[in-house]
Amino acid sequence: MIGLKVIELKDSSVIILDQTLLPTEVKYIECEDVECIAEAIENLRIRGAPAIGVAAALGMAITAIKNADKPSEILLIELKKSYDRLKKTRPTAVNLFWALDRVIKRAESSKNIAAETVKEALRIHDETKISDKRIGEYGADLLEDGDVVLTHCNAGGLATTGIGTALGVIKTAWKQGKKIKVIADETRPLLQGARLTTFEMVAEEIPVDLICDNMAAFAMKNLGVTKVIVGADRIARNGDTANKIGTYGIAILAKEHGIPFYVAAPLSTIDVGIATGEEIPIEYRNPREIKFFNNKRVAPDGVGILNPAFDVTPNEYITGIITDKGVLKPPFEESIEKAFKS
Ligand code: MRU
Repeated sequence: MIGLKVIELKDSSVIILDQTLLPTEVKYIECEDVECIAEAIENLRIRGAPAIGVAAALGMAITAIKNADKPSEILLIELKKSYDRLKKTRPTAVNLFWALDRVIKRAESSKNIAAETVKEALRIHDETKISDKRIGEYGADLLEDGDVVLTHCNAGGLATTGIGTALGVIKTAWKQGKKIKVIADETRPLLQGARLTTFEMVAEEIPVDLICDNMAAFAMKNLGVTKVIVGADRIARNGDTANKIGTYGIAILAKEHGIPFYVAAPLSTIDVGIATGEEIPIEYRNPREIKFFNNKRVAPDGVGILNPAFDVTPNEYITGIITDKGVLKPPFEESIEKAFKS
């Protein structure tokens, strides 16, 4: 890992590393209520699909702890309020809904509601770290000496609380002694690649070069990119994958250059309730994120601004999905179904 805890339940608070301040400042916020956690998710103090799921689950845990001595009906009402608030924070990453549904179902079916809610939330946190490890091991087999891996956004430990998904694969291969290099897209507008991915790679002493997003085609043609590995926010039953805005373009570029394009994600990121990527809700974020750079306005007032935070890569561009149950290959309808049954 990066040597920093991303999130932690401490007594009746949740301590969150504020990722908006990285890489220049390491600062934690202490959330004593669900509103604070919801704000942290909405403003990307904690972000990345699996980490959002963990944060939401721990938010439910603190509601349970704070209302533990109340009668069951009241406790359940409080938990439902927290569930409803957290559900509204971000629409695309399915791990949020997956984690919240797991926790509320456990609460509703338990006699000892408070204790079981906390246990389920902690279990989700533990499982997330375990699945990262598995993804890392399966994915590392795909990498070899000399690989130059391009990645987009941050699908590292900061995004999962474990070793990461896409970056977990890279870290595991590196630990196995494979001589690989990373090219990180900066990932406008919020610079998760520049601020967070390079931060993690530097911490692990893995060679990394940072490029602007518009250099990806150049890097594939001229800088020796041999593989692309990215994370995912939601994967449909047919393998269509939502990930950070810009991923779709990179997938098209990879196909054009004959470069394998892998998605790394736990099964909890696969939404079996939807057939194709058409059904994935895409978050549109505040125009300020584009209009201002480092608090300086970089576009005239009055300009229209479009700020979709994610795009969907159609399954035909994806070489494989590296999951905690192995590397899934096309046709994804079949391999995904099989993975859920195994
Ligand atoms: O807006 P963010 O920073 O939450 O977006 C994060 C991503 O798109 C990641 O690639 C994805 O969540 C996978 S994290 C393992």
